Amino acid sequence: MAELGVNIDHVATIRQARRTIEPDPVWAASLAELGGADTITVHLREDRRHIQDRDVRVLKETVQVKLNLEMGAEEEITKVALDIHPDQCTLVPEKREEVTTEGGLDIVGNFDRVKKCVDQLLTAGIEVSMFIDPAEDQILASKKLGAQAVELHTGRYADAVTGDERKQELDDLIAAGNIALTEGLHLHMGHGLTYRNVMPIAAIRGVGELNIGHSIVARAVMVGFERAVREMKELIVRASR
Ligand code: PXP
Repeated sequence: MAELGVNIDHVATIRQARRTIEPDPVWAASLAELGGADTITVHLREDRRHIQDRDVRVLKETVQVKLNLEMGAEEEITKVALDIHPDQCTLVPEKREEVTTEGGLDIVGNFDRVKKCVDQLLTAGIEVSMFIDPAEDQILASKKLGAQAVELHTGRYADAVTGDERKQELDDLIAAGNIALTEGLHLHMGHGLTYRNVMPIAAIRGVGELNIGHSIVARAVMVGFERAVREMKELIVRASR
């Protein structure tokens, strides 16, 4: 069954809107754990628009499940990651002007730059996952880098308009997932997953981790964090039966 990684960036987004101390993403992490989260995920962006270094430090001390740090393969952020030592780092592409992570990391085109970062994380004993589009060349490049996992970008599946399009994107994710599993990589997926579209993804054979943020935080505003996480977890459990 897929584990649930809850991305709590948006809690920090609300706090940073007023540059105040609340809501604290650390509280959200505790409630997410109570709701059944298997992983707490945060993205420390170069511009620190939501999650701050302090959050990652406190989460490292308080989170009792896996702590997954999403980050660009940049020197400055790599130093922070090496210092705080989360359980897992997921390398993502990062552009300052984007609203959210828009596509997978192009490892094929940035192999040497990404390798420098991956080597340092692996040497420090941090698990490395690569956030990539569901494409064979990117999966094989991730394997070549020594990463233990790939997180396949589910954005095109989430954005598909017609049933046929959605089926095609799902088939592509399944095929790419099988390549990753054959290569001995852990298989993660995420981006754009919601209470309405998560079940076919959670039912994919071998998918070990789903990282979900926006949809859970959006529901949490209405029903509370713990309940929002529990409801997502229930769908994942149901999908894997
Ligand atoms: N996985 C990765 C690598 C991401 O960058 C994000 C967005 O921060 C997510 C998953 C979660 O995406 P969403 O907020 O659309 O659920």
